[in-house]
Order: sequence, then C-alpha cells, then structure tokens
Amino acid sequence: MKALMCEGWNGYKGLKFVDAPPPALPAGCVRIAVAYATVSFGQLLVVAGKYQRKPPLPFIPGTEVSGLILEAAPDVSDFKPGDRVAASLDWGGYGEQAIATAETVWHVPDDVQLRDAATIPLTYGTSYAALHWRGGLTSGQTLLVHGAAGGVGLPTLELGKLAGARVLAVASTNERLELARAHGADEGLLHTEPDLAQRVKELTGGRGADLVFDPVGGALFDETLRCTAPLGRILVIGFASGTIPQIPANILLVKNIEVIGFNFGLYLGWSPVDERKRHATKLRTMMDTLFKLALEGRIKPTSSDCYPLRDFASAFEAVESRRSFGRVLIEVNGG
Ligand SMILES: NC(=O)c1ccc[n+]([C@@H]2O[C@H](COP(=O)([O-])OP(=O)(O)OC[C@H]3O[C@@H](n4cnc5c(N)ncnc54)[C@H](OP(=O)(O)O)[C@@H]3O)[C@@H](O)[C@H]2O)c1
Repeated sequence: MKALMCEGWNGYKGLKFVDAPPPALPAGCVRIAVAYATVSFGQLLVVAGKYQRKPPLPFIPGTEVSGLILEAAPDVSDFKPGDRVAASLDWGGYGEQAIATAETVWHVPDDVQLRDAATIPLTYGTSYAALHWRGGLTSGQTLLVHGAAGGVGLPTLELGKLAGARVLAVASTNERLELARAHGADEGLLHTEPDLAQRVKELTGGRGADLVFDPVGGALFDETLRCTAPLGRILVIGFASGTIPQIPANILLVKNIEVIGFNFGLYLGWSPVDERKRHATKLRTMMDTLFKLALEGRIKPTSSDCYPLRDFASAFEAVESRRSFGRVLIEVNGG
C-alpha cells in the first residue's frame, strides 16, 4: 500500500512516500481503508519527535481518519466490511490501510460526508471534552477562545455557542476573525491588540471571561490571567506559540482561578497507562452527539486545504505557516 513513513525525528520534510506492507490485524482491532486523514499542529510535533508520545521508529504517522471498514478481528462484533467509520489511531493514518482498536472507532451516519467525518474524532472531540468534561461550561457564561481560526479553535467556537455561552474569539488577522464570527463568535479580537486583557474586560462589564480555551500559550497566557473572571477557569490545551507558560500561583489565589490541564489523548489510550477501555462508553456517547450535530448541520467541519497523500508536504506546510484555517486534510485512497 502507499504510505508516508517516518524513519527519524526529522520533521515532515523527512517523511518518505513509500510502498509499505499492509499492517497486521491484531485482536480487538479493525482494518480501515482510509479515505481522509487530518494534519494538525500535533502531527508536526510528532514527526519532529517533540510530542509527549513517541511511536517506535519507523512508523506511519496520522492519528485521525475516516474511511471504510475492510475487516474486523474475530473478537470484534460492532463493525463489518463496508461500514463507514471515523477513528482515532495510535498512529498509521497516512497509509491506504490503517489499524484501529474497536474502542476508538465510531460509525459515521450515511448523510455525513467522510471528508467532514475525518475531523470529528480528535478535532471536535478535543473541543467537546475540554469544554464539557473538564471546563464545566454552562449557558450564560463567557468563553474566550485563543487560536480561534485554527483546527481546535473553530470547533470550540461552535460548541461553545451551542452550549449557550457568549463567545469571544482571538486570532491574528481580521480575515480569520470574520471566519470565527461565521462559526459562532459573538466578538472578535486581534491578539496584537495593545491591551487584549483590557478589551476582554470592557466586553464583559469589567468581569473577564468565565472560561478560557488556550491552545496557544506563551505571552498570551499572561493576558489570559489578567482577563479571567474571579472564580474562572483556564483550559490549558496546547502551546502553538512554542512557549510553555509559567504560572504565578499568587494570581490564582487572589482571583480564585483554576488552571485545568487537558490532554484528550488520556481518554484515547495514549498515556503510559492505556485508559481507552475505561473511557470507551463516555467517548462513544460524545461521538454520537457530535455526529448528530454534524447530521443536523449544527456544526460545520471546516478544512481550508486538502491534498493527495503524495503531496503531504503542502499539507504540513499549510499548518506550519499558519495560513490554513480549520483542519487540513490529506485524501488517502484515491488521493
Ligand atoms: N490538549 C489536547 O488534547 C490537544 C488536542 C488537540 C490539539 N492540541 C494542541 O492545541 C494546539 C493547537 O492545535 P491545532 O490543531 O488547533 O493547531 P492549528 O490548527 O495549527 O491552530 C493553532 C492556532 O494557534 C494560533 N497561533 C497563535 N500563535 C501562534 C504561533 N506563534 N505559532 C503557531 N500558531 C499560533 C494560530 O492562529 P492565528 O494565526 O490566528 O494566531 C493557529 O490558528 C497545539 O499545540 C496542539 O498540540 C491539544
């Protein structure tokens, strides 16, 4: 099969487009003919060896796919050949055939396109689980979203709005803020505003945001601390700025603020202790909700770029250069 092989921690420019043997099918797993796989900031880190989890070399990267079931292991009864599915993978998504554990594969409704479905497991899953499982977002609260036009940013705007929150979006250009508004943001703020925290306070009657979704970190985190409301919560999602913020505990104390770590991978079996079986029911319930929202057109999976597998470098470059919005896709079979 055609695949992208990572043979060393050399970044995406070191990936090779190769003919590889199809992977073996272990017990408890299914084989998927991959239609689409996503390319994210996280995958840039994985292939550079900078992600918290390093697959054994050589390996085929790619952790979020949609496609058709080719076969299921004898002990798997929920899936049969031809089923339309989306899945989270340990790795292996950038190949014509991929293996997934049955706990992290979900049926895709007939009227949801596989192109859209590819972004549900990790992209929408991250946003939903962060906002609801960890962030405790409720109707009427103010949600501040950094990196709002990015992969996890757009879904967070949509899901925040659906939860009844007032949503403030932060991004780098007016064009990206327009897109943010089209995905549910009530207000848009440039992260280059001279006093971003002050602007957030002005927009919230001086209180600040009840919940902050921060996939960027770096200097923005200082602004975040200044404009989080008393008793507010900050979700630490990632560090797209490249800088991991240090947190002054005195400000947390004075304002009764919670800083909440969020790692979706924990629920998917990516931590040193594999917890995917423990969280499988909760994950399935969430995916049912997300696919229903997609079916009803209440969420709008968005991808600025889609490239064939052999043109993978353009896909990674679109993410690296920050010119993409939403989630970048690779079309695998047929691509
Ligand atoms: N914790 C979890 O479970 C989890 C799950 C998924 C992703 N993540 C993390 O969340 C972060 C964002 O992921 P993503 O997939 O949404 O990435 P993405 O699509 O590349 O979006 C990142 C956004 O961050 C903004 N940004 C601000 N400063 C930046 C900088 N200096 N360099 C790059 N981007 C910058 C960019 O928007 P502007 O250009 O408009 O500023 C960009 O749209 C990553 O760190 C990723 O690892 C974490």
